[in-house]
Amino acid sequence: NDVLRKNLKIVRGCPITYAFASGLEKIEQFQSRRDDIVIATYPKSGTTWISEILDMILNDGDVEKCKRDFITAKVPMLEMVLPGVRTSGIEQLEKNPSPRLVKTHLPIDLIPKSFWENNCKMIYLARNAKDVAVSYYHFDLMNNLQPLPGSWEEYLEKFITGNVAFGSWFNHVKSWWKKKEEHPILFLHYEDMKENPKQEIKKIARFLEKNLSDEMLDKIIHHTSFEMMKDNPLVNYTHLPSMLMDPSKSSFMRKGIAGDWKNYFTVAQNEKFDAIYKKEISETELQFRMEI
Ligand code: PPS
Repeated sequence: NDVLRKNLKIVRGCPITYAFASGLEKIEQFQSRRDDIVIATYPKSGTTWISEILDMILNDGDVEKCKRDFITAKVPMLEMVLPGVRTSGIEQLEKNPSPRLVKTHLPIDLIPKSFWENNCKMIYLARNAKDVAVSYYHFDLMNNLQPLPGSWEEYLEKFITGNVAFGSWFNHVKSWWKKKEEHPILFLHYEDMKENPKQEIKKIARFLEKNLSDEMLDKIIHHTSFEMMKDNPLVNYTHLPSMLMDPSKSSFMRKGIAGDWKNYFTVAQNEKFDAIYKKEISETELQFRMEI
């Protein structure tokens, strides 16, 4: 299966999964609808989690309605192209009724202009860099579209230098954080969702001008808990063929916690990471919790 694994392709300075890079020209021309809701994340930040939460919110907490299809069809990934294998993200989006949910990992510069012109609402979910690195390492072990991660030590070096799909975590979070000064972007944190899902789901509902009863909120929290999502074949990515995602290497719904990095970073790796982190993040007001 390693035959599918190709080097990342640099598109306007950003390394992109090879299969997706071929579709980026079409993406530039993508026509948004005014009521599209964009879910933007750096990979492995809780995208699938917030996607299911949003679908539940739009469907007033109706679990049966949310079981209508796989997460990849309900919330298509804009840049997803798997030549000859499945419907592309754009093709799926064109089929979906409004209001559409659009998933993307693209950095700001590669987001189609139409989303800015239509002033579409966007939700950015960020997760602390150390847990993202650990989650991404395991994902690249199982995801046969990505280059092999190598050892954890080698992978961490690539992560720090931004030599992974969708580029540097630092650039991604900082540029989306800045963009919210001029565009309706709700900026959320994975760790806050873990600690207080009710409060964060209420924030999202307010942002989308949706009213949710307490009963609906409780249903959403229950249905989108890690334990429920891990066992839900519509959202846990076990529907993808194992030649694409190999469950023998890791699982998509792996641990779903904040602070797992402590099981992987050595003291030396942590010190090095902290120094770079401090330099990169201190110029912003961004704050991340490394555990909860
Ligand atoms: S992707 O491929 O970029 O779209 O992946 P993404 O969905 O962003 O991230 C996957 C990680 O999110 C965890 N996850 C959850 N955490 C808490 N609660 C829920 N419901 C949930 N669903 C997914 C998933 O386990 C991955 O993190 P790790 O740390 O690897 O477990």
